[in-house]
Amino acid sequence: MFLKKVLASAAVIATVALSTTSALALTVGFSQIGSESGWRAAETTITLQQAKDRGIDLKFADAQQKQENQIKALRSFIAQGVDAIFVAPVVATGWDSVLKEVKEAGIPVILLDRTIDSSDDLYLTAVTSDFIYEGSVAGKWLVDAVDGKECSVVELQGTTGSAPAIERKEGFEQGLAGSNVSIIRSQTADFTRTKGKEVMESFLKAEGGGKNICALYAHNDDMAVGAIQAIKEAGLKPGSDILVVSIDAVPDIFKAMMAGEANATVELTPNMAGPAFDALDAFLKDGTLPPKWIQSESRLYTKDDDLQAIYDQKKDLGY
Ligand code: AHR
Repeated sequence: MFLKKVLASAAVIATVALSTTSALALTVGFSQIGSESGWRAAETTITLQQAKDRGIDLKFADAQQKQENQIKALRSFIAQGVDAIFVAPVVATGWDSVLKEVKEAGIPVILLDRTIDSSDDLYLTAVTSDFIYEGSVAGKWLVDAVDGKECSVVELQGTTGSAPAIERKEGFEQGLAGSNVSIIRSQTADFTRTKGKEVMESFLKAEGGGKNICALYAHNDDMAVGAIQAIKEAGLKPGSDILVVSIDAVPDIFKAMMAGEANATVELTPNMAGPAFDALDAFLKDGTLPPKWIQSESRLYTKDDDLQAIYDQKKDLGY
């Protein structure tokens, strides 16, 4: 009886020790796109924090906006024998070969925040929002805001070839269907504040100093914040002369909304890592397969929300 008890406790201790050791020994490679936006910086901060809280050794590689750097990082993660790979893919195409190599090495891959055009058997799951839905929410908000009037929109697109740029455009166009709102100019500004300002300056110049522009739609808040500066410098009032709608819900857009210089934003959570680590944990523990798409929620914020309270909450989040 006594021996049985001793053996049972030893087994418990061994199991606990083993699971603690394996949790601590888990190594995950993370290929991040770069730091083009406030949202991206928050995603990085949260991923590093999540890894730390869970005792995971996170190998972080900043691709500086280049897919070739991401491909190199993935190959280096294979060589290092990591237990899993997280990748936020800068563009949607060109992943097949390297993901096949990762699969052959038996390493599970989780896509963070952007989807790709490859077959879904090359990755375990994708933690992303529905970009088409985000664009359509922005488009529908604008259609309601102009209430049947004609409205010429300029659009700042995200990085060419990236899933959010392709799908937020598509969704916005769906949201405008059947309305008097139309896109008159559309160009990439690479998801950055600096380029958002530059491209908006060129739109304003091309459109009679801005007189012909009724609204700006930006695929992220950072480009909108840059464009707001350009609109002000052109002597117009962003938020009233030119309506501003964008995506991400970063703290700076709430500041602009509180100042009446932006009108609406659609939220993208920067916490993609939490659900990704949960899925990985379950998979490594007992083979539980997550759904191929773990969808994060998207919601619209306008002046009708308690902007100060949301701003304060966001500032605590990792921004
Ligand atoms: O993939 C998500 C997008 O990438 C965010 O909307 C944008 O800010 C970031 O750069």
